[in-house]
Amino acid sequence: MGQRISEDKVNLIREKNDIVDVVSEYVQLKKQGRNYFGLCPFHGESTPSFSVAADKQIFHCFGCGAGGNVFTFLMDIEGISFVEAAKKLADKATIILEVDGFQPVNKQHSQEEKMVEAHDLLRKLYHHVLLNTDLGQEPLNYLLSRGFANDSIKKFQIGYAFNSWDYVKNFLDKRGFSPELMEQAGLLVKSESGFGDRFRHRIMFPIFDQQGRTIAFSGRALGDGNPKYLNSPETPIFNKSKILYNFHNARPIIRRQNTAILFEGFADVIAADEASVENSVATMGTSLTVEHLQILKRTSKKVIICYDTDNAGIQAASRTSDMLQQAGFQVLICVMPEGYDPDDYIKKFGAEKFQKEIVAAARSFISFKMFVHRRGKNFANEGEKMVYIESILEEIAKVQNIVEREFYLKLIADEFGLSLNTLLKQEEKIFSQNKKTDQHLQQNRIPDYFVKARKLKPAYQIAEENLISFMLKDKALTERIQQEGQLFNIEVHQQIANLLIRFFNEGHSNEVSLFINYLDDASLRTIVTEIEMKSLQTEPSEQEINDYIAQIKDIYQMNQLIKQKEFDLGEAERLQDLQMAAQIGLEIVRIKKSLGKSNRRE
Ligand code: UTP
Ligand code: MN
Repeated sequence: MGQRISEDKVNLIREKNDIVDVVSEYVQLKKQGRNYFGLCPFHGESTPSFSVAADKQIFHCFGCGAGGNVFTFLMDIEGISFVEAAKKLADKATIILEVDGFQPVNKQHSQEEKMVEAHDLLRKLYHHVLLNTDLGQEPLNYLLSRGFANDSIKKFQIGYAFNSWDYVKNFLDKRGFSPELMEQAGLLVKSESGFGDRFRHRIMFPIFDQQGRTIAFSGRALGDGNPKYLNSPETPIFNKSKILYNFHNARPIIRRQNTAILFEGFADVIAADEASVENSVATMGTSLTVEHLQILKRTSKKVIICYDTDNAGIQAASRTSDMLQQAGFQVLICVMPEGYDPDDYIKKFGAEKFQKEIVAAARSFISFKMFVHRRGKNFANEGEKMVYIESILEEIAKVQNIVEREFYLKLIADEFGLSLNTLLKQEEKIFSQNKKTDQHLQQNRIPDYFVKARKLKPAYQIAEENLISFMLKDKALTERIQQEGQLFNIEVHQQIANLLIRFFNEGHSNEVSLFINYLDDASLRTIVTEIEMKSLQTEPSEQEINDYIAQIKDIYQMNQLIKQKEFDLGEAERLQDLQMAAQIGLEIVRIKKSLGKSNRRE
């Protein structure tokens, strides 16, 4: 709008930009006869059907039909407008282009150019110091000992800022970069004694923008220094929430594979790149932003999240997957063995295992959510199972595609022996509730589909629940139960009992609603509320309470016995004593059978 470029200018820009050169920045081209051939960047292929005609200045793919001239090539591959493409090409050919929104060089602009220029200079300096000087020996050894390849050090232009208070300041000053401007650029800091270098004795990772210009640094301490990574501050040329580490290298590959793979750290990106996973990017130590989503949106439909598989990483991956899912991406999530980050994993198990067993085996949104919600839950406990199913239904309600939703509901129905129809209804309820209000499900609503399943509860579980429901109203009883030590078979029931004792000891009165506020853990709250909902308002007799306790203890002992036998079974199998194993197996079956008999409610 209002951004019109004269035909003369367009022609001039086209003349000065050979399509073969421009395309070559994204695609490896080989000359065959009059034309050039390569692998199409617009669809995945293994034999080249993408051709560029130098004489006609056009490109065409016989595979997917993509085609056009130098402008449309850039527009398609970068996801930019005609004017933006023209501007880029004009810049390349140093043609001055005046369009609305692209003002000619002004003061602000030239200061920013200066900042970028200084960053580019320092990138080269730091890189040179690392690779070619004595000062670089220690950091270089550190990098090599961590398994960074020489090629990566070059490709990622890693460098070293040696320990000096003002070397960089003087270096820049001599070249006409004023300390004031360089402080604004985040390269210098100001103290009482004047300007000095921000980065000292750190391994320097240059941060590139989408055009490959250096606009910031992240400096890693050698070893355990604090902070581990010191980043450039926000500056006129560097905005963390718009930058993805390695995006300028990864973009053509992301484009070609229609997939980006998102990491938490630089070290992970570099290790993945070495493992030939080259569509790798990372945020700058922040969570994903809307701006990041837009950048990714322009290049790919699919994002694979590959965060650390530890609690923090799994939580972060879960949040990021929500964002991506909502933004309409196809999301997959990598899961490594507990405690690994991608860098560790690759270094330990190698590139091939990383590609095949982690990236290629990435989980879908829902199956990842199943993994997340299942962690630490005990499905022998109906309460925990209920919380799990409920959380998964919430997640399924987020999935846009109906077919996909039904597929997952069916998985859940099969796994827990529930009817698909009731699950469908329940999920629809959640879906419309979520639409109406962001508030989550009322804690004390017992889901319909669960009423049927509850019939299968073993008697000892019911005994535990009843006992807890009495304890909730009775401080003296709670104290008596405390004397029993570890009584409950079901872990969360024991947790609830322990918290209840603390609650009473702190002098709170016996009101369930107060106790519910006291519980931070939503899954505990759900269980307490459920127990309270169905508790009888009668006073229990002494006999009744004793019966419950005895019943719970019996089962506790049997369960302990089964655990012991299962351990013995494992040992027997390990020693390949098959006869022994078979015998123990039979015993376990027998105990379980008798447990089942005494447990089932009529
Ligand atoms: P990690 O602590 O997971 O780093 O932080 P890493 O990639 O495993 O690094 P190595 O292997 O120990 O060298 C992930 C990301 O969080 C940001 C950085 O962007 C880092 O890549 N971060 C971390 C910071 O910005 N500052 C810090 O002090 C630490
Ligand atoms: Mn690491």
